[in-house]
Amino acid sequence: MTKVDVPGMIKKNRMNSCTGFVVAASIVFILIGIAVAIFFMTWVKLVINHEIVLRDGSQAFGWWAKPPVIPMISVYVYNVTNADEFLNNGSKPVVEELGPYVYMETWERKNIVFNENGTVTFNMQKIYKFNETLSSGLEDDVVVVPNIPMLSATSQSKHAARFLRLAMASIMDILKIKPFVEVSVGQLLWGYEDPLLKLAKDVVPKEQKLPYEEFGLMYNKNGTSKDNVTVFTGGSDITKYGLIDTFNGMSHLTHWLSDECNSLLASDGSIFPPHITKNSTLRIYDKDLCRTLPLKFEKEVQRKDGVPSYRFTPPLDVFGSVTENPDNLCFCPHGPPCSPSGLFNVSLCQFDSPVMLSFPHFYLSNDSYRTAFDGISPPDPEKHKLYLDVQPMMGTAMSARARVQINLAVSQVVDIKQVATFPDIIFPIIWFEEAVDDLPEEVTNLMRLANDVPPIAHASLSGILFVIGIILLLIAVWRIVRGANRLSSLHLATGHVSQPPKSKDVPMSNVNRY
Ligand SMILES: *[C@@H]1O[C@H](CO)[C@@H](O)[C@H](O)[C@H]1NC(C)=O
Ligand SMILES: *[C@@H]1O[C@H](CO)[C@@H](O)[C@H](O)[C@H]1NC(C)=O
Ligand SMILES: *[C@@H]1O[C@H](CO)[C@@H](O)[C@H](O)[C@H]1NC(C)=O
Ligand SMILES: *[C@@H]1O[C@H](CO)[C@@H](O)[C@H](O)[C@H]1NC(C)=O
Ligand SMILES: *[C@@H]1O[C@H](CO)[C@@H](O)[C@H](O)[C@H]1NC(C)=O
Ligand SMILES: *[C@@H]1O[C@H](CO)[C@@H](O)[C@H](O)[C@H]1NC(C)=O
Ligand SMILES: *[C@@H]1O[C@H](CO)[C@@H](O)[C@H](O)[C@H]1NC(C)=O
Ligand SMILES: *[C@@H]1O[C@H](CO)[C@@H](O)[C@H](O)[C@H]1NC(C)=O
Ligand SMILES: *[C@@H]1O[C@H](CO)[C@@H](O)[C@H](O)[C@H]1NC(C)=O
Repeated sequence: MTKVDVPGMIKKNRMNSCTGFVVAASIVFILIGIAVAIFFMTWVKLVINHEIVLRDGSQAFGWWAKPPVIPMISVYVYNVTNADEFLNNGSKPVVEELGPYVYMETWERKNIVFNENGTVTFNMQKIYKFNETLSSGLEDDVVVVPNIPMLSATSQSKHAARFLRLAMASIMDILKIKPFVEVSVGQLLWGYEDPLLKLAKDVVPKEQKLPYEEFGLMYNKNGTSKDNVTVFTGGSDITKYGLIDTFNGMSHLTHWLSDECNSLLASDGSIFPPHITKNSTLRIYDKDLCRTLPLKFEKEVQRKDGVPSYRFTPPLDVFGSVTENPDNLCFCPHGPPCSPSGLFNVSLCQFDSPVMLSFPHFYLSNDSYRTAFDGISPPDPEKHKLYLDVQPMMGTAMSARARVQINLAVSQVVDIKQVATFPDIIFPIIWFEEAVDDLPEEVTNLMRLANDVPPIAHASLSGILFVIGIILLLIAVWRIVRGANRLSSLHLATGHVSQPPKSKDVPMSNVNRY
């Protein structure tokens, strides 16, 4: 090499500036390639974070405000077929599962107001329409179910003064209130006039008054909710995207014993903070659930529409008793005793009615609750598990099955003759499945694009940059080598005889090296 530097000054200068440029260009390309390899996904993340923020007029906002999906709720009713024998002869209760009764829903967020601190406030509107074709029964089907207002009142009176219970018994006698009611499915869900509630409304002091005269498990749910929900738009902090800031002005619940259990920092189930990993815990809040429900990664699912997503489901001990899951102690403000295994006591959110939630068919509960009845088949995770599939990169819910069973924890009260023979029992009333599926193609196409394109673009862009850089480098090397050869032939031609043997030495020493 030393030899190359000495002669042929004129040619060398021209060639070196050109080669130097090629070398510089190749290094630039390789550096950009490295930068792309390292930073491209970060950049994609930033673009996604920017695109999903709820901003007036954006596409994400439009889909959020008026979800382009048709959620469906399927209701199954446990019709009691031996009410009289159960009460009079102490027979095992027999129930028949009726349904599904299917309602198609339309969701829309109403009264949307953007706040200055990166949050948006709205009222959720849900309209339910009965779909006869999908249902296996009519809304007019008459069913026999426990009289929830009555049994709530009697169960609550268990620790009251005896004369109060006797008074209650005579009032119920006069009003001809029975422990089981015969109502239509439509009435059970959307409301029927209940004599006890009507009475309570008239006589009970104003502070303790129940807000309604009618009783129905979904009473007042058809329409726009009065609850003011404020969620983070993601504009100021993407890690809180879609999470609840306040619910009716409250930033946390007040029923439970710890800040963690009272926390409302959860999604309403539609959108989640993006970039979900298999380690993430998703939290959803529903007013009727009375708490946030944690969801953990279960598996990856390949959907029909080609959008890969993660399935999240509650941990198996989510409703575990305090011995199974000590974290649940905070949900037991007036215990012990606390909720039994697999049941969640929501009485504080249900006007002190002894309502217990579980999964359908007592999935994940002690089997003894299910076998206390005839007619409830063993739980099947496929049919009775609650789950949610999310697109992990954007945090959008792709499909969901919210499955919950409503039970009444009846306490035996011997002083009230109407219910004297009604034993302590967890009585299932209905279970329902709220299903969201089938996002429109417009949405799934975009998601597939967001999912598939960045990795390909990432690999090909950094690949192409590397290849160009390396080709340029090779060209530069080739030019240098060729230049060296040319120089040596130049020396030969000018007749410097002393040079050729030396120039031959170089390749030979190279050969020796191998
Ligand atoms: C529910 O059970 C009662 C008997 O307790 C029966 O008369 C009624 O027909 C049942 N309802 C349906 C829809 O099958
Ligand atoms: C209750 O049990 C008795 C004896 O076991 C029986 O004679 C009677 O028919 C039963 N009543 C009903 C309503 O099943
Ligand atoms: C944001 O503003 C809304 C409405 O003014 C308010 O309800 C909420 O508490 C505020 N949230 C934060 C985190 O400041
Ligand atoms: C819900 O309300 C809409 C009108 O707002 C009505 O058409 C529909 O029948 C109602 N659904 C039920 C189940 O009552
Ligand atoms: C009921 O559902 C079926 C199937 O999805 C649909 O074709 C039909 O239009 C729906 N009927 C009503 C009244 O919404
Ligand atoms: C919701 O907000 C409106 C207007 O800001 C207010 O009048 C109403 O009382 C609030 N509702 C609840 C349940 O807090
Ligand atoms: C998930 O958590 C496990 C254990 O806590 C840890 O070993 C693993 O690195 C985490 N993975 C990610 C992607 O954060
Ligand atoms: C449910 O919770 C309420 C309020 O904390 C409590 O009074 C009641 O005893 C609980 N019920 C059961 C069955 O644990
Ligand atoms: C279910 O409950 C019964 C009675 O309360 C109890 O004996 C049994 O050990 C429980 N089973 C499990 C698996 O917890």
